[in-house]
Amino acid sequence: MTVLLLAGSGEAKKIAWGLVGQGVKAIASLAGATRDPDPLPFPTRIGGFGGAEEFTAFLKDAGITAVIDATHPFAVRITDRTAAICGAQGMPYLQVLRPAWEAGVGDRWTMIADASAAQSVIPTDATVFLATGRQTLEQFAGLEGRRVICRQIDPPTAPFPFEGGEFAIGRPPFSVAREEELFKALGIDWLVVKNAGGVASATKLTAARILGIKVAMIERPPMSDAQRVETPAAALEWLAAL
Ligand SMILES: NC(=O)c1ccc[n+]([C@@H]2O[C@H](COP(=O)([O-])OP(=O)(O)OC[C@H]3O[C@@H](n4cnc5c(N)ncnc54)[C@H](OP(=O)(O)O)[C@@H]3O)[C@@H](O)[C@H]2O)c1
Repeated sequence: MTVLLLAGSGEAKKIAWGLVGQGVKAIASLAGATRDPDPLPFPTRIGGFGGAEEFTAFLKDAGITAVIDATHPFAVRITDRTAAICGAQGMPYLQVLRPAWEAGVGDRWTMIADASAAQSVIPTDATVFLATGRQTLEQFAGLEGRRVICRQIDPPTAPFPFEGGEFAIGRPPFSVAREEELFKALGIDWLVVKNAGGVASATKLTAARILGIKVAMIERPPMSDAQRVETPAAALEWLAAL
């Protein structure tokens, strides 16, 4: 068996080490979005495959016999395409998708469908913290006029794409205390978050609740039907049962 692990999430790292523990031969794949990513414990290819045909050829050439998709919950293009190609080929495919976050007591969330809706709920005099990453920053151009701070892992290579913006550099994980300190220092009154789910990155939501900061929560994009589990442990069980 040779497993292709589509990586790009914390779950992928856990699955990778689990595969090593099970003695399973695997190849990991990263999109190449993060410079200097944490190394995975087996051969890792970096960069897009170049499209559906190229991906199909890769599966054949690399002798892949099962695919575990542990990409980010918002990475729907790679997930939908891979699920469709594997489905058509009868290739075992599993998506690992952590549960979405749900608002609790004290949370001040406004649910929005996508990035473009943020401007309609966030007032023009707000100081906004975008915890949504560099890749989708341009989609928030409608927030121009507010003070907007976008956090990204790597130092910027280009200027902020619209007026009033600045970058904050930080590599996760972030503790609740560190998030609180940062939001207070920056005077944040709105946070924009993708509903990625998970424990590690929920610290910003806890900090927002403590500080009474409002959250514009981007709902998950719709996804096609596929076999899925919620945890790395369940993914490893699925594989062991193949
Ligand atoms: N979207 C987010 O909010 C987010 C947050 C954190 C991490 N990430 C990670 O960043 C990567 C890109 O995210 P995205 O939202 O741009 O994905 P996407 O829109 O679903 O995919 C765009 C293209 O990126 C390439 N790609 C994505 N994941 C790949 C992987 N693991 N290995 C090889 N190629 C991959 C594919 O290119 P080709 O068509 O050339 O094959 C795909 O068509 C994902 O791996 C995801 O897990 C995304």
